[in-house]
Amino acid sequence: MPPSANGPTANGRSADHDIDPIFLNRWSPRAFTGEAMPSALLMRLFEAARWAPSASNIQPWRFVYAHRGTPQWAPLFDALMDMNQPWVAQASVLAYAISDRFRRRPDREPTENRSHSFDTGAAWAYLALQAHHLGWAAHGMGGFHVDAAHEATGAPAADYRIEAAIAIGRPTGAETLPESYRAREIPSNREPVARFAFEGRLGGA
Ligand SMILES: Cc1cc2nc3c(=O)[nH]c(=O)nc-3n(C[C@H](O)[C@H](O)[C@H](O)COP(=O)(O)O)c2cc1C
Repeated sequence: MPPSANGPTANGRSADHDIDPIFLNRWSPRAFTGEAMPSALLMRLFEAARWAPSASNIQPWRFVYAHRGTPQWAPLFDALMDMNQPWVAQASVLAYAISDRFRRRPDREPTENRSHSFDTGAAWAYLALQAHHLGWAAHGMGGFHVDAAHEATGAPAADYRIEAAIAIGRPTGAETLPESYRAREIPSNREPVARFAFEGRLGGA
């Protein structure tokens, strides 16, 4: 089916089909003001994550976080790869999205939860949309040292998967970034829907 070409344009992005503009406006900036984030505001992001759907309502997501300038910050920050540290240094909050690999019920052996990552991905997406809705931004990162992140967060690898790090901050101008990051401070585009949605059977690339 060809694009209906009547979707919204926002944030330098155009949708082919009609969607809420929040999906275009949410993006992953690296330039942050560094201002403190009130705890009550951060809880509103986790509250959004709380209402994500999950298999059997297991809610396997866990978040370990630190506000910049607190003693909890350094261990979480030090687990990031070098490429992310220069800009995350100006974030307000650094979190790790972690999933519990198991379904745990009283008086029963834990059983594997096949959708622990899928469900935690949904929770992170809700968090990111809520952050944008409040005038903040959440930027996901795979660029962290896995063993160090397990150690820093206190989440043993046998039980938990560290899905991503998340920098949360209030966006500001690209000129505040170290030079090497400035050119990339632009919202990215996407492949068309036809590239990934197929009726009946997976199509060719
Ligand atoms: C799981 C995950 C890992 C990512 N890793 C990094 C990272 O290590 N460093 C970084 O600067 N951005 C990282 N990103 C951001 C992506 O590059 C970004 O989401 C993608 O280019 C789409 O852009 P947008 O979020 O602005 O729409 C990551 C995003 C996700 C969801």
